[in-house]
Amino acid sequence: MKTIIKSVESYLPEKVLTNEDLSKFLDTSHDWIYSRTGIEKRHLVDKDELTSDLGLKAAIKAIESAQISPSDLDAIVVATATSDRRFPSAANKIQGDLGANRAFAFDLNAACSGFIYALFVCDSFIKSHGLKNILLIAADTLSLFIDWTDRATCVLFGDGAGAVVLQATEDNVDRGIVAAKLYSDGTKYDYILANNGPQNDHRGYTTMLGSAVFKYAIEYMALSISEILSENNMTIDDIDWIIPHQANKRIIDSLCKLKNFPIEKVIISIKDQANTSAASIPLAMDYAIKNSKLKRGDTILLVALGAGLAWGAAIIKF
Ligand code: UT7
Repeated sequence: MKTIIKSVESYLPEKVLTNEDLSKFLDTSHDWIYSRTGIEKRHLVDKDELTSDLGLKAAIKAIESAQISPSDLDAIVVATATSDRRFPSAANKIQGDLGANRAFAFDLNAACSGFIYALFVCDSFIKSHGLKNILLIAADTLSLFIDWTDRATCVLFGDGAGAVVLQATEDNVDRGIVAAKLYSDGTKYDYILANNGPQNDHRGYTTMLGSAVFKYAIEYMALSISEILSENNMTIDDIDWIIPHQANKRIIDSLCKLKNFPIEKVIISIKDQANTSAASIPLAMDYAIKNSKLKRGDTILLVALGAGLAWGAAIIKF
């Protein structure tokens, strides 16, 4: 059995905040933000809009594109670090809203690497447990967990959701998830952190050791690319597109230099979306499809690193 990505869709909230807008209430500038990160603007949730609202909108489109109905779904997994509530899960909310009455549903939190972690889990459900259709949503609303007076973090993030339908298919189909590989290093637990719970002294706000994370992001993502390629007897020349987590354009540039991979073959959508955490990879995939870059049959390499530290890579014949 193989797992194919049957459809990819995404949703960005309507409200937009540009670098210029930020510089009106913060000691920052468009030039600083753009030159240091590649970000020009970000989309933000409006009052009363939550992660499950974004996820649902992306999900409805993904189900439609996959030409299935909600009752065909065996499972719904939402990769998110910013679920609506402590419980129940955003996945349960979406399952109810969709009327996906046969599907079990749960959230998975691996922060910015959530999409790759969830892909690994869903692929195993299909290959080892006989599931046929899984809705994988990656959605985050980090704007709700940010100190909007802290220029070192608030300029970096945006909100959004991506959704894919994963489907079981026969082994002879020349498409599907080739491999996924996950890593964690909890000794760097404090490097990116958003508190909640009884220990709070700074409820909900995201803090980050920016330059240390920057350094590890390049080093660890480069290593995970080397390992996943060699374990699958592939080289970087077998890859048509790298679709990395969109945290910082400079990280992506450095990664490409290190791997000797042409930047033209990297999907970069950070400019208009900023860092949308788990949603960033499916948002970038959808961007690549809609802009006629990514096509059926292309071999793609996904790679991400975020809070945990948790990181990973995946190879997919799209
Ligand atoms: O998605 C999870 C993974 N996250 C990442 O991978 C993010 C990794 N880190 C980064 O992308 C970068 O470290 C940042 C974009 C967060 C920061 O860039 P940097 O080049 O590492 O800047 P820095 O933190 O070293 O700050 C340089 C200067 C400082 O001023 P001084 O101390 O040199 O006077 C900061 O205070 O820039 C200042 N600064 C700002 N200035 C204007 C920091 N934020 C801003 C700002 N506007 N928004």
